[in-house]
Amino acid sequence: MKVLVIGGGGREHALAWKLRQSKKVDKVYCAPGNAGISDIAECVDIKADDIDALLDFVKYNWIDLTVVGPEVPLTAGIVDAFIKEERRICGPDMAGAQLEGSKIYAKDFMKKYGIPTAEYKSFSSFQQAEEYVRLKGAPIVVKADGLAAGKGVIVADTVDEAVDALRSIMTDRVFGDAGNRVIVEQCLKGEEVSFMILTDGETVVPLATSQDHKQIFDGDRGPNTGGMGAYSPAPILDEAMRKVVMETVIAPMMNGLARERMNFRGVIYVGLMICEGKPSVLEYNCRFGDPEAQPILMRLDSDLFDLLQATAEGRLKEVTVTWKAESAICVVLASKGYPGSYEKGVPIKGLDSFRDDKEVVVFHAGTRLNNDYVVTSGGRVLGVTALGKDIETAKENAYKAIDKIHFDGMQYRNDIADKAIKKQ
Ligand code: AMP
Ligand code: GLY
Repeated sequence: MKVLVIGGGGREHALAWKLRQSKKVDKVYCAPGNAGISDIAECVDIKADDIDALLDFVKYNWIDLTVVGPEVPLTAGIVDAFIKEERRICGPDMAGAQLEGSKIYAKDFMKKYGIPTAEYKSFSSFQQAEEYVRLKGAPIVVKADGLAAGKGVIVADTVDEAVDALRSIMTDRVFGDAGNRVIVEQCLKGEEVSFMILTDGETVVPLATSQDHKQIFDGDRGPNTGGMGAYSPAPILDEAMRKVVMETVIAPMMNGLARERMNFRGVIYVGLMICEGKPSVLEYNCRFGDPEAQPILMRLDSDLFDLLQATAEGRLKEVTVTWKAESAICVVLASKGYPGSYEKGVPIKGLDSFRDDKEVVVFHAGTRLNNDYVVTSGGRVLGVTALGKDIETAKENAYKAIDKIHFDGMQYRNDIADKAIKKQ
């Protein structure tokens, strides 16, 4: 079988790496890919959101299954376009992808189907949003409605901060049309965790649990990023809590998907805040989390191709999923300046040390080849991902590996997985 992975970050490297392990997969292509992906797959120079070119590629190269990594092509309707041409693809249609593409749509969906979430109101007028913020007081959360590359949420500690956020989104339009409307939302306190499921619209297969680290600095300080590291499993989602999540969050969500007639054959990532033993939904994503996919896919024992093909074909009930008992952790190495502006083209040293390593895989996020030399090309550059018999060992393995890697300005968090270690 031939598989095309769409995207070019750490998540897509992990997807391509795992798909290649399937005996059924003869060849993996990746569009556009990156330097690390080009070691294990054929990278194709097509942008992840160029749906027409991707469809042509799939037709002319007889691709059997397409797996979409990022949200942008999904919200732009890649699945609808592929299905129209009878091409097998894993991911939600445009209607399903609205769960990520519009935060207002997602919140209204949660309200309609009784899914626990923070109290909120949506606005298209700056003045009315400001009045509401002043009425409610701080702390309070302001969210741009549309896609904003993970930067559209401001958790404001003061009213002034919230009003500034509203101004920059609605008046200065820093996220363009994505900020035409906003949500102002109650601020929840608790512990965040990611719960992902695979679904074909009927069957739900929960994936291993994980926890992301959004802020740039240790101790969850500094601005939010796309994610600076993740570990799996997440002890806060023990069996009892998973049962609560399945009953109070996932079951009404699946009911909602069916009622709204969404064609959702892919991953639903539910961002949860657990407050005093009760889960509330912070957000939906319509795809694998990045970097959560990296530790999760390291722990996956089953054949990923079988799983994703069954998802795309609506046969998930025929499949069982097994996980390694080991824990996994991914530590992101980022460019100096990230999540602000950063330099590109910085040479990376030490990557060859891990080629045959079974416990450590260095997934590339923002890299490219420059005359056969790997250089940085993004904010998040590498995701050093390690297995271990428990979370401490996995952490030790990952940080030992990081000692062998270097690029100028490299920054990373030293406390990935400490929350899980403290809980033991
Ligand atoms: P989202 O993109 O909606 O997940 O928001 C990004 C981050 O903002 C989340 O991972 C949380 O850390 C934080 N966040 C979002 N909504 C809330 C909320 N209602 N209360 C507290 N923090 C929130
Ligand atoms: N790591 C969070 C996300 O993928 O959106």
